[in-house]
Parts: sequence; structure tokens; C-alpha cells
Amino acid sequence: MGTTGERKADHLRICLDQDVQSGGDPGWSGYRFDHQALPEIAFDAVDPATTLLGRPLAWPFLVGAMTGGADRLGRLNERLAVAAEAYQCGMVLGSLRPALEDPSVVSSYDVRAVAPGLPLLLGNVGAAQLSPPGIESRVVALCVRLRLDGIVVHLNPLQEAIQSEGDGDWRGLAGRIADLKAALAREGLALGVKEVGSGFSPATARWIGTLRPALVETAGTGGTSWARVEGLRSSDTARRRAGETFASWGHPSAESLATLRARAPGVPVVASGGMRTGLDLARAIRLGAAAGAMALPLLRAAAEGGTAVEALLHALRLELRVAMFATGSRTLDDLRRAPMRDPSGMRVPFARGRTP
Ligand SMILES: Cc1cc2nc3c(=O)[nH]c(=O)nc-3n(C[C@H](O)[C@H](O)[C@H](O)COP(=O)(O)O)c2cc1C
Repeated sequence: MGTTGERKADHLRICLDQDVQSGGDPGWSGYRFDHQALPEIAFDAVDPATTLLGRPLAWPFLVGAMTGGADRLGRLNERLAVAAEAYQCGMVLGSLRPALEDPSVVSSYDVRAVAPGLPLLLGNVGAAQLSPPGIESRVVALCVRLRLDGIVVHLNPLQEAIQSEGDGDWRGLAGRIADLKAALAREGLALGVKEVGSGFSPATARWIGTLRPALVETAGTGGTSWARVEGLRSSDTARRRAGETFASWGHPSAESLATLRARAPGVPVVASGGMRTGLDLARAIRLGAAAGAMALPLLRAAAEGGTAVEALLHALRLELRVAMFATGSRTLDDLRRAPMRDPSGMRVPFARGRTP
């Protein structure tokens, strides 16, 4: 059995070296915008600026939750944070569990030290780690120490079930998440909730609608598969097999986004899970997302160096702006009204009311 730090290092090595994508379709590419052959706007005027949790972002994008907890992981966080600051998008840190267990690794999450101008920085903790009494105040103290804007709680029951040392007791966690929301609110901090690659069913989305977090991140099927990662990490034949059996388990990302918009109205949705291009991001915005997020390709870029992360963010933002121009959309509100067809060729209706 490994420590949390060793487990994080295993995850990183496997995600960098092996095929960890689910193999399922996240559902983004089936949507097709109408091409506007006469856009009547200037490309230079296309501006995807937005706000999320009251923070101004130059474009609707977050570096997805990935890492922290050891020196090497801290260096990756720094590269991601410096690039996110340069491109004025948000960032979610990897799970703070190592820092909750060992104060000596807190500095590997302290990205404000190198990127003080990051417009939005969120921490991350697993729902399954919220059981110990008093944990809320320790999480809030870490938020203050790291100058975070809030915490995103991840839901990952599939991963925990396949991981040999996984947390299998999920009783009472909805109440613990609500307690954490209240503790964060007392310090003016936001609570987010996310999956890690299996998305949200209608029933879980309804619970999100009741909890009313400050944001929810879809992380549906079609991107990185945590069943597969844990299967590849295990030396146990049955767990390796289960990792493959469940590699495409869950709700595709685009479906998960639609479910959350319908069942948790008013909660801003961050679309993620197999988002790989700025065109995917444009589609997600049209489908009602407040922003998008990406993890695995950014990790691989960060392992190459900070320049590779900046090049990827540059390409994503350019692709988003090209999609906006070619649909005649100067702003994100325009893009939300751009004609688009679903995979069956039907027109996608416009979202009712303002996208939160
Ligand atoms: C190396 C790696 C580590 C991750 N660690 C976390 C984590 O600590 N907390 C979390 O909520 N999600 C974590 N994720 C999940 C991602 O944030 C994201 O939800 C998921 O990978 C789907 O996005 P993708 O298809 O763009 O990779 C991690 C992903 C990767 C690739």
C-alpha cells in the first residue's frame, strides 16, 4: 500500500506514459455550428472575456485539477499556474489531501507565490476524505494559507472502488459536503463540486440543484479514465481487469452538461472530460456551460515545460475565437445564440434565461 504522495506519483507516471483515455466519446464533436460565411464582425474584436465566481477571466477556461504534494509535482503546478496567469484563465489545484496529511508539502501548492496575478485559483479535496471530525476547519485554514478562492470537492466512487487502498465508505458524505460549504461560506470562500470522469446522472444533478454549490464541473466519460488509471496501477489481476471493464463507465461529458443544466438550474457548469480543442469549448459554451476545463493534455505539456503549456493555452484560445468569428459571435453571449445542430441534425434550442 502506498502513501498518498506515492499514489500521486504513480498516477502522474501512468498518465504521462500510458493510454489512459476512456476510449468512449465525450460527445462534443457530434455538435455542428452553422457556418456564417458573412460574419460582419472584425476578428480582432472577437472577445471571449467572462466572469466566473465574480472573477474576471480573459476567456472561459480553467486548468483542470491535477497535482501537488511533492517537489516535482510542485514544479508542474508552477508551470501550469504561470501559463494560466499569462493567459488570464483560472486554475484548480490537485487534491490537497497530501497537504492535509503532511504540512511539509503545502508549498508544492503555493502557486500564488509564482503567479500572483492568477485571476481564479481553487483548491481540491476528495469527498471521501471529508469524514474526520474537524476536517472543514483544516481545509478552510489551507485555503487561507494558499490564498485560494474556494475548494472543489471531487466525487470519484468508481476510482475509489478499483483502487486497492481506496476509500469505500461513502455514507453520510452529502451532509459532510454541505458542512464544508457552510464553513467555506463563513470565510467568503466558494464551494465547487466535480466528478473525475464519469459525469452526473439526473439524480446526482438534482442533488447538485439542492446543494447549490458556486460551480459544478462535469468531468464526464470520454476523457481520462480513472478506472483505467487505477487498473494499470494495480498488481492485482481482478483490479486490472475491472479497470478495463469500467473504462467507459458513466455519462458522456456533453450529456452530463445537458443533465446539469436541466436539473441544477442556476448553478454555473464547468464542462470537462475529453475536452481537447477550443472548438469543443465553443460547443460547450453554446450548450450552456459557463466555462470549460482540461486536464491530461495540459499535464503532458507541463512535463515538457512551461512553453509547451503556454503554446497549448494559446492554441485553445485561438480555436475558441475562430469558432466565435465563423459563427459571427463577437462575445460569448452571441456564441450562446449561434445556430448549432445536435448529432441527429436537430437544431439545439437556445438556453432559457441567462447562463449563470
Ligand atoms: C494526472 C491527473 C491527476 C488528477 N488529479 C485530480 C485531483 O487530484 N482531483 C480532481 O478532482 N481531479 C483530478 N484529475 C481529474 C481531472 O481534473 C479531470 O476531471 C479529468 O482528468 C477529465 O479531464 P481530461 O479528460 O481533460 O483529463 C486528475 C487528472 C489527471 C490527468
